Amino acid sequence: MVTKQEQLYEGKAKKINGTNDPGLYWVEYKDDATAFNNLKKGTIAGKGYYNNQISALLFSYLKEQSIPNHFVKLLGDREMLVQALEIIPLEVIVRNIAAGSLSKRLGIPEGTTLKKTVLEFCYKSDELGDPMINEDHIAALELATPQEIALIKEQAYQISEKLSARYLEANLILVDFKLEFGRYQGQVLLGDEISPDTCRLWDKDTRKKLDKDRFRQDLGQVEEAYAEVLARLRGGN
Ligand code: TMP
Ligand code: ASP
Repeated sequence: MVTKQEQLYEGKAKKINGTNDPGLYWVEYKDDATAFNNLKKGTIAGKGYYNNQISALLFSYLKEQSIPNHFVKLLGDREMLVQALEIIPLEVIVRNIAAGSLSKRLGIPEGTTLKKTVLEFCYKSDELGDPMINEDHIAALELATPQEIALIKEQAYQISEKLSARYLEANLILVDFKLEFGRYQGQVLLGDEISPDTCRLWDKDTRKKLDKDRFRQDLGQVEEAYAEVLARLRGGN
Protein backbone atom coordinates (compact mmCIF):
# COMPACT_ATOMS: atom_id res chain seq x y z
CA MET A 1 0.00 0.00 0.00
CA VAL A 2 1.22 3.49 -0.82
CA THR A 3 1.48 5.77 2.20
CA LYS A 4 1.81 9.55 2.30
CA GLN A 5 5.08 10.88 3.65
CA GLU A 6 6.74 14.27 4.14
CA GLN A 7 5.73 17.35 2.14
CA LEU A 8 8.26 18.09 -0.59
CA TYR A 9 6.76 21.23 -2.09
CA GLU A 10 3.83 23.59 -1.74
CA GLY A 11 2.89 25.56 -4.84
CA LYS A 12 0.13 28.09 -5.51
CA ALA A 13 -2.48 25.45 -6.33
CA LYS A 14 -1.08 22.11 -5.16
CA LYS A 15 0.94 20.40 -2.43
CA ILE A 16 3.30 17.56 -3.29
CA ASN A 17 4.21 14.90 -0.75
CA GLY A 18 6.58 11.98 -1.05
CA THR A 19 5.42 8.42 -0.49
CA ASN A 20 6.99 5.17 0.71
CA ASP A 21 7.69 4.49 -3.01
CA PRO A 22 10.45 6.82 -4.32
CA GLY A 23 8.86 6.70 -7.79
CA LEU A 24 5.52 8.14 -6.66
CA TYR A 25 4.25 11.52 -5.44
CA TRP A 26 1.04 12.22 -3.54
CA VAL A 27 -0.56 15.41 -4.92
CA GLU A 28 -3.20 17.46 -3.09
CA TYR A 29 -5.13 20.12 -5.02
CA LYS A 30 -5.90 23.31 -3.07
CA ASP A 31 -8.70 25.86 -3.29
CA ASP A 32 -6.18 28.75 -3.35
CA ALA A 33 -6.09 30.77 -6.54
CA THR A 34 -3.57 33.33 -7.73
CA ALA A 35 -3.32 35.35 -10.91
CA PHE A 36 -1.00 37.86 -12.54
CA ASN A 37 2.11 36.35 -10.94
CA ASN A 38 0.66 36.34 -7.44
CA LEU A 39 -0.64 39.95 -7.51
CA LYS A 40 -4.23 38.72 -7.19
CA LYS A 41 -4.95 36.14 -4.51
CA GLY A 42 -8.11 34.40 -3.42
CA THR A 43 -9.82 31.09 -2.96
CA ILE A 44 -12.33 29.35 -5.15
CA ALA A 45 -14.53 27.07 -3.03
CA GLY A 46 -14.32 23.49 -4.25
CA LYS A 47 -11.59 24.23 -6.81
CA GLY A 48 -9.26 21.58 -5.37
CA TYR A 49 -11.96 18.95 -5.82
CA TYR A 50 -12.95 20.01 -9.34
CA ASN A 51 -9.37 20.37 -10.63
CA ASN A 52 -8.34 17.00 -9.19
CA GLN A 53 -11.33 15.22 -10.74
CA ILE A 54 -11.04 17.04 -14.10
CA SER A 55 -7.28 16.39 -14.30
CA ALA A 56 -7.75 12.69 -13.45
CA LEU A 57 -10.42 12.34 -16.12
CA LEU A 58 -8.35 14.09 -18.81
CA PHE A 59 -5.07 12.35 -17.93
CA SER A 60 -6.88 8.99 -18.13
CA TYR A 61 -8.38 9.98 -21.48
CA LEU A 62 -4.96 11.02 -22.84
CA LYS A 63 -3.50 7.67 -21.72
CA GLU A 64 -6.24 5.89 -23.65
CA GLN A 65 -5.23 8.05 -26.63
CA SER A 66 -1.60 6.81 -26.30
CA ILE A 67 -0.29 10.04 -24.77
CA PRO A 68 1.78 9.02 -21.76
CA ASN A 69 1.54 11.14 -18.59
CA HIS A 70 2.31 11.04 -14.89
CA PHE A 71 -1.19 10.13 -13.63
CA VAL A 72 -1.39 6.86 -11.69
CA LYS A 73 -4.71 6.93 -9.81
CA LEU A 74 -7.15 9.02 -7.80
CA LEU A 75 -6.65 8.82 -4.03
CA GLY A 76 -9.69 10.80 -2.95
CA ASP A 77 -11.69 13.95 -3.66
CA ARG A 78 -8.67 16.25 -3.82
CA GLU A 79 -5.76 13.86 -4.07
CA MET A 80 -4.07 11.83 -6.78
CA LEU A 81 -1.02 9.59 -7.08
CA VAL A 82 1.45 10.51 -9.83
CA GLN A 83 4.83 9.36 -11.02
CA ALA A 84 7.67 11.34 -9.43
CA LEU A 85 8.75 13.55 -12.32
CA GLU A 86 11.69 15.92 -12.28
CA ILE A 87 9.81 18.92 -13.69
CA ILE A 88 11.40 20.73 -16.64
CA PRO A 89 11.04 24.45 -15.73
CA LEU A 90 9.01 25.40 -18.81
CA GLU A 91 5.38 26.38 -19.31
CA VAL A 92 4.35 25.06 -22.69
CA ILE A 93 1.44 27.16 -23.94
CA VAL A 94 -0.69 26.01 -26.85
CA ARG A 95 -3.15 28.36 -28.54
CA ASN A 96 -5.86 27.71 -31.14
CA ILE A 97 -7.89 30.90 -30.63
CA ALA A 98 -6.47 34.31 -29.70
CA ALA A 99 -7.04 35.41 -26.08
CA GLY A 100 -5.17 36.66 -23.03
CA SER A 101 -1.56 37.73 -23.42
CA LEU A 102 -1.44 36.83 -27.14
CA SER A 103 -4.31 39.20 -27.93
CA LYS A 104 -2.65 41.93 -25.89
CA ARG A 105 0.86 41.44 -27.28
CA LEU A 106 -0.01 41.11 -30.98
CA GLY A 107 -3.25 43.09 -31.11
CA ILE A 108 -5.31 40.12 -32.30
CA PRO A 109 -8.93 40.47 -31.11
CA GLU A 110 -9.97 37.88 -28.53
CA GLY A 111 -11.86 35.05 -30.20
CA THR A 112 -10.01 35.16 -33.53
CA THR A 113 -9.31 31.62 -34.73
CA LEU A 114 -5.58 31.31 -35.43
CA LYS A 115 -4.54 30.06 -38.88
CA LYS A 116 -2.01 27.82 -37.20
CA THR A 117 -1.80 26.34 -33.71
CA VAL A 118 0.69 28.51 -31.83
CA LEU A 119 3.13 27.03 -29.33
CA GLU A 120 4.98 29.21 -26.83
CA PHE A 121 7.53 28.46 -24.13
CA CYS A 122 7.81 30.40 -20.89
CA TYR A 123 10.60 29.98 -18.35
CA LYS A 124 9.05 28.94 -15.03
CA SER A 125 10.48 31.50 -12.64
CA ASP A 126 8.35 33.40 -10.12
CA GLU A 127 11.09 36.04 -9.63
CA LEU A 128 11.21 36.78 -13.36
CA GLY A 129 7.43 36.52 -13.88
CA ASP A 130 7.62 33.47 -16.22
CA PRO A 131 9.12 35.28 -19.26
CA MET A 132 8.51 33.93 -22.76
CA ILE A 133 11.63 32.30 -24.21
CA ASN A 134 12.59 30.53 -27.44
CA GLU A 135 14.40 27.30 -28.21
CA ASP A 136 17.81 29.03 -28.29
CA HIS A 137 17.22 30.43 -24.79
CA ILE A 138 16.21 26.94 -23.62
CA ALA A 139 19.43 25.48 -25.05
CA ALA A 140 21.59 28.35 -23.71
CA LEU A 141 20.14 27.94 -20.21
CA GLU A 142 20.32 24.12 -20.55
CA LEU A 143 16.70 23.80 -19.43
CA ALA A 144 16.08 20.91 -21.81
CA THR A 145 17.92 19.17 -24.63
CA PRO A 146 16.94 19.74 -28.29
CA GLN A 147 15.70 16.11 -28.35
CA GLU A 148 13.48 16.75 -25.33
CA ILE A 149 12.11 19.94 -26.91
CA ALA A 150 11.33 18.11 -30.17
CA LEU A 151 9.39 15.48 -28.24
CA ILE A 152 7.57 18.08 -26.12
CA LYS A 153 6.49 19.99 -29.26
CA GLU A 154 5.23 16.85 -30.98
CA GLN A 155 3.28 15.82 -27.87
CA ALA A 156 1.89 19.32 -27.31
CA TYR A 157 0.34 19.43 -30.80
CA GLN A 158 -1.11 15.94 -30.36
CA ILE A 159 -2.49 16.82 -26.93
CA SER A 160 -4.09 19.92 -28.45
CA GLU A 161 -5.95 17.81 -31.01
CA LYS A 162 -7.04 15.16 -28.53
CA LEU A 163 -8.09 17.58 -25.79
CA SER A 164 -9.93 19.87 -28.21
CA ALA A 165 -11.93 16.88 -29.46
CA ARG A 166 -12.71 15.71 -25.92
CA TYR A 167 -13.83 19.17 -24.80
CA LEU A 168 -15.94 19.59 -27.93
CA GLU A 169 -17.92 16.49 -26.91
CA ALA A 170 -18.75 18.51 -23.79
CA ASN A 171 -19.78 21.48 -25.98
CA LEU A 172 -16.67 23.38 -24.86
CA ILE A 173 -14.10 25.16 -27.02
CA LEU A 174 -10.49 24.76 -25.91
CA VAL A 175 -9.12 28.24 -26.62
CA ASP A 176 -5.62 27.79 -25.17
CA PHE A 177 -3.89 25.87 -22.41
CA LYS A 178 -0.63 25.36 -20.52
CA LEU A 179 1.28 22.11 -20.10
CA GLU A 180 4.30 21.07 -18.05
CA PHE A 181 6.56 18.12 -18.72
CA GLY A 182 9.10 16.28 -16.60
CA ARG A 183 11.68 13.52 -16.69
CA TYR A 184 11.04 10.06 -15.32
CA GLN A 185 13.56 7.23 -15.76
CA GLY A 186 15.01 8.77 -18.91
CA GLN A 187 11.60 9.43 -20.45
CA VAL A 188 9.84 12.79 -20.92
CA LEU A 189 6.28 12.69 -19.59
CA LEU A 190 3.37 15.11 -19.41
CA GLY A 191 2.86 16.21 -15.78
CA ASP A 192 1.24 18.90 -13.62
CA GLU A 193 -2.53 19.35 -14.12
CA ILE A 194 -5.09 19.90 -16.88
CA SER A 195 -7.93 21.95 -15.44
CA PRO A 196 -9.86 25.21 -15.79
CA ASP A 197 -6.90 26.82 -13.96
CA THR A 198 -4.61 25.96 -16.88
CA CYS A 199 -6.98 26.07 -19.88
CA ARG A 200 -9.28 28.68 -21.40
CA LEU A 201 -12.63 27.01 -22.05
CA TRP A 202 -15.64 28.68 -23.65
CA ASP A 203 -19.16 27.38 -24.11
CA LYS A 204 -19.41 26.48 -27.79
CA ASP A 205 -22.75 28.20 -28.36
CA THR A 206 -22.60 31.30 -26.14
CA ARG A 207 -18.80 31.62 -25.74
CA LYS A 208 -19.36 32.06 -21.99
CA LYS A 209 -16.04 31.72 -20.15
CA LEU A 210 -15.89 28.60 -17.99
CA ASP A 211 -12.34 28.83 -16.64
CA LYS A 212 -10.00 30.82 -14.39
CA ASP A 213 -10.57 34.00 -16.42
CA ARG A 214 -13.78 34.31 -14.34
CA PHE A 215 -11.49 34.75 -11.30
CA ARG A 216 -8.83 36.82 -13.13
CA GLN A 217 -11.45 39.24 -14.51
CA ASP A 218 -13.86 39.19 -11.52
CA LEU A 219 -16.71 37.81 -13.63
CA GLY A 220 -18.40 35.97 -10.73
CA GLN A 221 -19.78 32.40 -10.66
CA VAL A 222 -16.28 31.00 -10.58
CA GLU A 223 -17.02 27.83 -8.58
CA GLU A 224 -20.10 27.19 -10.72
CA ALA A 225 -17.97 27.33 -13.88
CA TYR A 226 -15.50 24.72 -12.57
CA ALA A 227 -18.41 22.50 -11.46
CA GLU A 228 -20.00 22.81 -14.89
CA VAL A 229 -16.81 21.80 -16.70
CA LEU A 230 -16.58 18.62 -14.58
CA ALA A 231 -20.29 17.83 -15.05
CA ARG A 232 -20.05 18.31 -18.81
CA LEU A 233 -16.91 16.16 -19.12
CA ARG A 234 -18.70 13.44 -17.15
CA GLY A 235 -21.52 13.69 -19.66
CA GLY A 236 -23.96 15.42 -17.40
CA ASN A 237 -24.86 18.46 -19.52
P1 TMP B 1 -1.95 33.85 -21.22
O1 TMP B 1 -2.85 34.25 -22.34
O2 TMP B 1 -2.18 34.63 -19.96
O3 TMP B 1 -0.50 33.84 -21.63
O4 TMP B 1 -2.32 32.33 -20.85
C1 TMP B 1 -2.28 31.31 -21.81
C2 TMP B 1 -2.80 30.01 -21.20
O5 TMP B 1 -1.93 29.52 -20.21
C3 TMP B 1 -4.17 30.13 -20.53
O6 TMP B 1 -4.92 28.96 -20.83
C4 TMP B 1 -3.87 30.15 -19.06
C5 TMP B 1 -2.60 29.37 -18.94
N1 TMP B 1 -1.71 29.88 -17.92
C6 TMP B 1 -1.36 29.08 -16.84
O7 TMP B 1 -1.82 27.94 -16.73
N2 TMP B 1 -0.50 29.57 -15.92
C7 TMP B 1 0.04 30.81 -16.00
O8 TMP B 1 0.81 31.21 -15.12
C8 TMP B 1 -0.33 31.63 -17.12
C9 TMP B 1 0.22 33.02 -17.26
C10 TMP B 1 -1.19 31.12 -18.05
N1 ASP C 1 -1.17 31.20 -11.83
C1 ASP C 1 -0.41 32.31 -12.26
C2 ASP C 1 -0.05 33.22 -11.10
O1 ASP C 1 -0.34 32.99 -9.97
C3 ASP C 1 -0.99 33.16 -13.34
C4 ASP C 1 -2.35 32.91 -13.89
O2 ASP C 1 -2.81 31.76 -13.97
O3 ASP C 1 -2.99 33.88 -14.32
O4 ASP C 1 0.52 34.22 -11.29
